[in-house]
Amino acid sequence: MSRVTRRPRFVAGNWKMHRTPAEGAALARECVALAAADAAGATRVQVAVFPPFPALSAVASAIAGSGVRLGAQNLHPEPQGAFTGEVSGPMLAAVGCSLVLVGHSERRHGMGETDAVVAAKTRAALRDGLTPVVCVGETLAERESERTAEVLVRQVTAVYAGLSAAQAADTVVAYEPVWAIGTGKVASPEQAVEAHRIIRATLDQVVGAEAGGSMAVLYGGSVNGDNAAALFAHSEVDGALVGGASLQAAGFWRIAAAAAAAP
Ligand code: PGA
Repeated sequence: MSRVTRRPRFVAGNWKMHRTPAEGAALARECVALAAADAAGATRVQVAVFPPFPALSAVASAIAGSGVRLGAQNLHPEPQGAFTGEVSGPMLAAVGCSLVLVGHSERRHGMGETDAVVAAKTRAALRDGLTPVVCVGETLAERESERTAEVLVRQVTAVYAGLSAAQAADTVVAYEPVWAIGTGKVASPEQAVEAHRIIRATLDQVVGAEAGGSMAVLYGGSVNGDNAAALFAHSEVDGALVGGASLQAAGFWRIAAAAAAAP
């Protein structure tokens, strides 16, 4: 199915376990200054940063009044309770978050999060008024054994089968092949496009073409200022979830500018 209208572009910076509150506020202020200096670019692309929990409040103050949005990297499915070390959606919303990552591969593969946990976290985010950025992606072994499509369909279906079309439309998907994250091995634009088409077709089937067609599908995995434009040249790629390259404001902004300039 061809789509004539381009969806809003979105560039998200996942800081992972980097930056103290003071360092995060400084980085956020640099991002805000670059956004202000590039008004045309800033109006064409949505930008968000995802600092670690302790830096959220400081970054919220640093970006107040700017167009830059705030997200967290994880949440617990329950709104409160005896869950030592966990953080809930209402707590994140209270410190200014409007977005939250769910199912990042470092949580699926490093912390044992299953499809069912990712689905529960997605529903919790929506319940708590946060836009979930649902991360999916195959490992190298899965790609090499030609199971990429099967994995993507399974991961997307596990989350979206439990959502209404309206709920789905309030989410963002990030395709993050595990072998490309933090490795410097970016997926080729052809590999990204192929995966994004599988994700989009699955969304169309599970939540309907109207909601599916309105949702942004980002690419993530070793995106930087040099390779972003080639990815954004394809209308299937609505933006990027950026890890390492989001820790330098100038490099991060080059990616946002490439998204804004994409055809
Ligand atoms: P990377 O990380 O850009 O450092 O590869 C992407 C991510 O994990 O979201």
